[in-house]
Amino acid sequence: MDKYAVFGNPIKQSKSPVIHTQFAKQTNQAMQYEAILAPIDGFEQSLSEFIEAGGQGANITVPFKEQAFLLCDDLSPEAQQAGAVNTIMVKADGSLYGHNTDGLGLVSDLTKSKVQLAGKHILLLGAGGAAKGVLLPLINQKPASITIVNRTQEKAMALADQFKALFSIDVKTIDELDTAYDVVINSTAASLSGQAIELPEASFNAKTVCYDMMYSKEATPFNAWAKTHGMQTIDGLGMLINQAAYSFELWREQMPTTDEIENLLNKELGR
Ligand code: ATR
Repeated sequence: MDKYAVFGNPIKQSKSPVIHTQFAKQTNQAMQYEAILAPIDGFEQSLSEFIEAGGQGANITVPFKEQAFLLCDDLSPEAQQAGAVNTIMVKADGSLYGHNTDGLGLVSDLTKSKVQLAGKHILLLGAGGAAKGVLLPLINQKPASITIVNRTQEKAMALADQFKALFSIDVKTIDELDTAYDVVINSTAASLSGQAIELPEASFNAKTVCYDMMYSKEATPFNAWAKTHGMQTIDGLGMLINQAAYSFELWREQMPTTDEIENLLNKELGR
């Protein structure tokens, strides 16, 4: 049977095995998908053992996406620009092709939620790996502008600089935000520590859509804040499912549908 796996540390929380097993069932594909806990200093060895045992593809999650990028022989434009790989495909000649489907998953989830990006003003909160991973697919949607705000402004400037050949990204401090954005995307880890990022009144209106790349049973702190200010909110569950769908498509040349697994995971979360 064709073998796939997700590598991470920690990995117990990963929904990828459930998602890919549902995709396989839905598309009648004979494949198995497991979660592998790679030692913090042993990702490369863990991946090679899997490939030697016949593994044909892998998802890579925290904290190994940058290492995976370095191990691949060929890269998609998304992976190249992100400097990180979340999907590996083992090619027929044994070489490794690296792709990054995180940003594609985000754009796809926004599109499904009927949120337009073309011609819109986007505010991206955060300038870490998660922000970098989604910028190219966002730019490809041809927004009117992208502004990055980050707690550490130098990191936002460095990130904007990496994309300057493709798109002129604005960098601002949170206090400098003085016009309303159409879409605000929170890529920071602030929700993990229970913190909301509060935006100045001038930076949003009733039509602003807030997207938190994290998800949880209850609204994330950022989305809870946005809701109390009258904005539409979306969390990262759909992004997770859609990035998986793009990985599956790369490996199996068939795009699965996502509604059924989304309903299932929402139910599991009790919402
Ligand atoms: P990831 O891969 O999840 O993006 P990362 O590369 O460590 O992880 O980046 C974390 C991001 O969340 C950064 O933008 C970080 O801001 P700094 O660059 O200033 O560190 C942001 N972040 C983390 N905790 C935050 C908080 N409590 N408030 C605001 N931003 C926070």
